[in-house]
Order: sequence, then C-alpha cells, then structure tokens
Amino acid sequence: MIPGITILPGDCLASMRTLPNCSVDAVVTDPPYGQTSLPWDRFVYGWMAEIGRILKPTGSVWVFGTLRTFTQHWREFDGWTLAQDIVWEKHNGSSFHADRFRRVHEQAAHFYRGDWASVYKGKVVTMDATAKSVRRKTPPVHMGWIDHGSYVSEDGGPRLMRSVIYSRSEHGRAQHPTQKPAAIIEPLILNACPPGGVVLDPFAGSGTTGGVAARLGRKAILCEGNTDYLSVMERRIGGIVSETSDLFARAAE
Ligand SMILES: C[S@@+](CC[C@H](N)C(=O)[O-])C[C@H]1O[C@@H](n2cnc3c(N)ncnc32)[C@H](O)[C@@H]1O
Repeated sequence: MIPGITILPGDCLASMRTLPNCSVDAVVTDPPYGQTSLPWDRFVYGWMAEIGRILKPTGSVWVFGTLRTFTQHWREFDGWTLAQDIVWEKHNGSSFHADRFRRVHEQAAHFYRGDWASVYKGKVVTMDATAKSVRRKTPPVHMGWIDHGSYVSEDGGPRLMRSVIYSRSEHGRAQHPTQKPAAIIEPLILNACPPGGVVLDPFAGSGTTGGVAARLGRKAILCEGNTDYLSVMERRIGGIVSETSDLFARAAE
C-alpha cells in the first residue's frame, strides 16, 4: 500500500471511534445517499457527530449529496454551518429514473463549525484567466462584503476555480458503481486540507479520496464497510497516484 494511507475495514462508525480527538485536518467523503437499490446504499446516521469529535478546530468537511439527501437528513448536519457548495457537472446522466430531468450533476456541500476565520482554506485556482474576463472589483474578504478596487490579471493567469466543475464521469471504466473522478475530489482536498495534513474518508468506496490525497502530499484514513472494495481500492489508489493531476494538466495547457 501507499505510505501515508491507512485503510480501516468495517463499519465507519466503529472505525472512527478508534481515532483520537482532533486528529484529522479535513473530511472529503461521498456517503451513501440512500436513493438506490444498491445493498450498501443506506443513509448512515451519526457519522457527522463522530466527525465533530475527530476533526481539528481548523478542519472542515466536504460531503457529496443531493439537495434531497441534505434536506431529508438535515438533522445529521445540525450544529454545522454550510460554507459553500460546488456542482459536479458530468458528461452523461445517471439513469436512476425516467420521470424527471436527466440528471447530469451532483453536489458537494462544505461544512464547518465555530469561527470561519479560523478554518483552513486552501485557495484553488485554474490557470485560465484572460485579462479582459477578470477585470473586476477586489474579491471580497467575506461573502457579501463589497469593495471598490479593481485588478487586471494576465492572460493564462490564475483565477479562483469556478464552483461548477465539469469532469467526465467514470462511466465505462469505473471499478466501483459510484466511483468519483479524481478531478472532482482534487479541488476539495486542496481547499480543505493543508499540505502534509490528514484527510478522512469514512465512505471510501474505491479509494478515490485516498489516491488524490497521496498524489497531493496529504495523508489519508479510509473507512470502507464492503470488503469486496478493499482490493479495488489498492488498484485505484495506485492508478491515481501514477496519473498526472488534472488541475496541473489544465494549468499547463
Ligand atoms: C458512494 S460510495 C463511495 C464511492 C467513492 N467516492 C469512490 O470514488 O469510489 C459509498 C461507500 O460507502 C460504503 N459504506 C456504506 N455504509 C458504510 C458504513 N456504515 N461504513 C463504512 N462504509 C460504508 C459503501 O460500501 C460504498 O462503497
């Protein structure tokens, strides 16, 4: 296995109870939404409370879900503040139903506790600014705070990554039925976990979070309840570590 990656097989609630207080820097996870017939797709109650104990005061939590999961299970997030959300736009839809819009996106929500000022916030940029497109007022320090400055960036310079992120889904090459692409996990880890820090994924599946964490020089703790996915995880993590980062690839274009 890759150095810095710890895999805890079994139920994540039991596994997380073995972790010390304030021992992880960030959580990036894709829990069961409870919306399909997959045997493991049952919403797990109480995992955010356990995270509250394990997470450092500077830490935050990125959770994949749908508006439906977040509103149906809002009590799970009681005591947490929603900082922001991102949309993952896929190239195709998940064909779970035929009586609604063809769903081509998923969301991830970012939660923290306490004082936002003390939460670690890695700045995530894409290297695709054009001078004309970024001439604007100084980015506000806080949401809603309006200032009068302006700045001009260079062509090809950095700009804050957009909150709607396009990435092809893993359809056709996935080793896990709900495998996330590394490209959608990468900005979330860069945003929430400092270099050298520890990312926890209580619902690791094929281990995408672990592979991206290792590639970015972070450590990872991965919990997974289905033992069939443990061998998948080894292959997937090795594969991600040997790939080039999509963000860096975009920067180099
Ligand atoms: C949505 S999938 C995660 C997929 C992952 N993001 C990837 O890229 O492969 C959720 C995973 O959580 C696991 N799971 C469900 N309930 C669990 C529990 N109580 N403890 C640990 N793992 C659990 C499932 O087996 C499944 O692999």
